[in-house]
Amino acid sequence: MSDEQGGTEELVRMALAARARAYAPYSRFQVGAAVRAADGRAFAGVNVENASYGLCLCAERSAVAAAVAAGATALVEVVVATPASPPGSPCGMCRQTLAEFARDLPITLVNDRGERVSTSLAELLPRAFGGADLATEGAGVPPRSRG
Ligand code: THU
Repeated sequence: MSDEQGGTEELVRMALAARARAYAPYSRFQVGAAVRAADGRAFAGVNVENASYGLCLCAERSAVAAAVAAGATALVEVVVATPASPPGSPCGMCRQTLAEFARDLPITLVNDRGERVSTSLAELLPRAFGGADLATEGAGVPPRSRG
């Protein structure tokens, strides 16, 4: 087994374990996610729902927030665990959030039945909008260009 595969397996375990801790009393659709930072650290997240439904936070963005809070802003891999069969795919908002922290990365979708789907951010969100698109006269300045 290659190192990369071992890394994926750790993320799968983390995402499945986190799923059990999801706060999803309204949809009862519990999601867990795990992200790998470029420095090797891994972070888990869960969906966090609210009685005001529009405030629901997805597991993927929850995991990204944990990574950023720990100082990791370059992501290299993501695993998402849902109860769906075939395993569910990240929503559009989460795809865009991931695109802020990776040009492309492998994404593995899993469920408790052991089903797996391998995809990538580039496949799920081609031609993503990014900071470079803001480098236009009269528009905002991408974070990496700020003085
Ligand atoms: N959900 C996620 O956590 N990730 C996704 O990519 C899709 C949806 C959550 C949001 C909500 O709490 C529940 O799943 C049902 O939509």
